[in-house]
Amino acid sequence: MTRVFSGIKPTGHLTLGNYLGAMRRWAAVDQHRADGLFCIVDLHALTVDHDPARVRRLSRQAATLLLASGLDPELCTLFVQSHVDEHTRLSYVLECVATDGEMRRMIQYKEKAAREQGRGGSVRLSLLTYPVLMAADILAYGTDEVPVGDDQAQHVELTRDLAVRFNQRYGQTFVVPRATHPGVAARVMNLQEPTSKMGKSDDAGPGIVYLLDEPDVVRKKVLRAVTDSGREVVYDREERPGVANLLEILAACEGGDPGELSGAYASYGALKKAVAEAVVEVLRPVRERHRELCSDPAYVEGVLRKGAERAREMARPRVDAAFRAIGLLPPV
Ligand code: TYM
Repeated sequence: MTRVFSGIKPTGHLTLGNYLGAMRRWAAVDQHRADGLFCIVDLHALTVDHDPARVRRLSRQAATLLLASGLDPELCTLFVQSHVDEHTRLSYVLECVATDGEMRRMIQYKEKAAREQGRGGSVRLSLLTYPVLMAADILAYGTDEVPVGDDQAQHVELTRDLAVRFNQRYGQTFVVPRATHPGVAARVMNLQEPTSKMGKSDDAGPGIVYLLDEPDVVRKKVLRAVTDSGREVVYDREERPGVANLLEILAACEGGDPGELSGAYASYGALKKAVAEAVVEVLRPVRERHRELCSDPAYVEGVLRKGAERAREMARPRVDAAFRAIGLLPPV
């Protein structure tokens, strides 16, 4: 059976971008057709300036929202990264295969390091080695496919390089995984700045739709989305990024093709109303289920406990094999 692994970082409230770009597909498709592991990657949340209590709160919230979005613990494994030691064990071994130059070429590293420095802060070493830990997440499980939004493509490419390099130098140990991206909404853009990604770690703003926003807040954000100077509704990512983003969100929510959908709306106003309602409807069941699950935290904890046990068993043999292959003496 195909093995799928993906993760989400508890650095902010989850957004419509996380949902349409990744989470929805994990629940609707991946967990049914594959052996799926879905992980709240809390160690990755420590790579930038963070508040410990907030990371804990957001980790619990992410787990609850993943269940609310339809992940079924009978079908897949849902767990927290820091509960399974194999991730950090393997990360160190992969650091001995990766190079400093490779890390510094990562687009997300360059962007985030520039942001931290712009705020007058310093760059944590873990931000530089972030992609190696991500590679460890993926490679520990013999993953075939990594369903992610577009922004993670370079990290998955690096993971492939590390797997191939390790296998060539130290013997066949890792499966070489590949990224899969959704057909539409692989990169949902900020509604106020349609040339930048809608990111959860960005400062809260009117351009970001959060999964737990009230319906009226969602409507207001969509109706105030920045559009372009034209009047006609046409799908053109380069020239009309604001309208293209709205059409892609609509296509992702309702099905269909953004280019074809454009013909159905006579004005930007009509398009925005349709998008607002489509987003409210897509998020409604997630919000409702989230509310129910919040009244049963013991259930969520039980899911995470069992998930971590299962994940540990799956990861340990391969990580042990990597230790032996690279030259570490087995414990006596
Ligand atoms: P993270 O937490 O930033 O995002 C989680 C998932 O949501 C997708 N995504 C988007 N998709 C479309 N449009 C957007 N605006 C948007 N914003 C986020 C991301 O592509 C991702 O699929 N490094 C990863 C977490 C990670 C991981 C892993 C993922 C750690 N280890 C192993 C896969 C496998 C990250 O920061 O995702």
